[in-house]
Amino acid sequence: MARFLALSIVAALVIVPGHTTRTDNQDVAYWFTQRVDHFGRNDQQWEQHYMVNHTYYKAGGPIFITTPGDNALTSHHTSMTHLIRLAQQHNGIAVAIEQRFYGSSAPLPDLSASSLEYMTAENMLADFASFIREAKTNPSSVFPVAVTEDAQVVFAGSSFAANVAVWMRSTYPDLVAGAWASSAFVYNRLENYQFEQSFGYHLEQLGCGSRFAQAVRDLDYILFSNDQVLIDSALELFGLPSLSVQVFASVVSDMAMSEALAQITVNGDPVAEAVCAHFSKGTPALVSYANVVKAAIKRRGLSPAQLLSMDNYNRTDTRVSLNQPDLVSYFISCTWFSNWITATPRSSGLDSYISQLMTLDLSLSQCRRHFGHHVDFVGNVDSFNRKWFYPLHSTTNIFYTVGSLDIWRGSSVAPVSGHIIRTNSNSHIEVIEGAGHAQDFDMESVSDILSVKRARHIGDTLVKKWLGHRNRYIRIDEVE
Ligand SMILES: *[C@@H]1O[C@H](CO)[C@@H](O)[C@H](O)[C@H]1NC(C)=O
Ligand SMILES: *[C@@H]1O[C@H](CO)[C@@H](O)[C@H](O)[C@H]1NC(C)=O
Repeated sequence: MARFLALSIVAALVIVPGHTTRTDNQDVAYWFTQRVDHFGRNDQQWEQHYMVNHTYYKAGGPIFITTPGDNALTSHHTSMTHLIRLAQQHNGIAVAIEQRFYGSSAPLPDLSASSLEYMTAENMLADFASFIREAKTNPSSVFPVAVTEDAQVVFAGSSFAANVAVWMRSTYPDLVAGAWASSAFVYNRLENYQFEQSFGYHLEQLGCGSRFAQAVRDLDYILFSNDQVLIDSALELFGLPSLSVQVFASVVSDMAMSEALAQITVNGDPVAEAVCAHFSKGTPALVSYANVVKAAIKRRGLSPAQLLSMDNYNRTDTRVSLNQPDLVSYFISCTWFSNWITATPRSSGLDSYISQLMTLDLSLSQCRRHFGHHVDFVGNVDSFNRKWFYPLHSTTNIFYTVGSLDIWRGSSVAPVSGHIIRTNSNSHIEVIEGAGHAQDFDMESVSDILSVKRARHIGDTLVKKWLGHRNRYIRIDEVE
């Protein structure tokens, strides 16, 4: 799933672990000592990278924490997201902490399967919890300014970081007063065909859904024909003549969805321009589809070699060196929760917006190839849901948002067909009409659509409430 979560990384920093480093633009890298395993199997220590923005901090103010999730940490995360606005509203300090095994936060010297064994949800959350404990009890050891002891903490984030935020609230309610979760997923499936259905829903809203689905059917008819001449002519039409059929299908899906995470603003919807605009009357559906893909490849400036290498389903690369966020995210999918992006089964009677060649086997074979016996694939999904998602029903103080056109909507709190999570005290689910992925957590902009502004306002009001009460966390099932 990582390739669909890739958000822009603003600036790379040159950093030396174990030191506090100042660079030109006044970004300061801080390091917090962690254990490889919080549960006693490996006591080695490592340094976790974090950044702080104390521009608005005043004594007694709260701590707002985020994580870049599956991206490397930059000052973007402490200065250019809604986190800094929350800090501004409450005289708070903004902190962003990199996740273990991403960016410069390396518990072990490589990303081999035996190292990644420590990439568990429990360990990842325990890292954040030990930072927060230190920040509350001994703030001068982690902050460059005098922060008041026992400050309240709100965890916030978008995409994967939204999951971290809700899990921090559900797992460590005494440490985290509330969570702002912009497009968290709260339900896992082995085969997540709801993902491509959300893309199709978006196309339907824009008016080109059925023609796009027709093109996908036409292409699959050729790809499954066993007629090599016909297949070669299709590859030629899409400008991807040297790829295998499998890689071709995967690249075509990626390219067609390449704007699916872009912001929808008052200036327009990038998916309308990148996809539907090509489906004009009189052009055969398959030709329109090819034009969508060719335009995406051009827009991204991808060479044939890059197209091959970006294909997660066919990683020939078995390097285990650090700084491969895709590999860590792949490991997480393999071992935590699956949610593999597969084609909607024909038997469902629903239209499909990616090729039927996108199957579960493809993903699982890659898990086996990379991580071998370390991976227990299929059995994980139910137990993961039970362990990490069921408790959310009784967790208070969470603000869940999802755009009505968010491609991750099918796994979110509010898929098109209704709510998955019950909300309870001081929690709220906001479906942001007409918005895409995680737009509410971005810094405000003059081109924001009204529903996004409204969602931020609702979130701001809830955060105020969470911080105002300073009450002990009470589980719903403990009440009465
Ligand atoms: C903190 O955030 C403010 C507001 O976005 C920004 O102007 C400032 O440069 C940031 N400082 C750091 C050190 O990132
Ligand atoms: C994976 O990519 C290689 C080229 O790098 C290709 O020869 C092979 O057929 C591909 N495998 C699949 C399953 O598509």
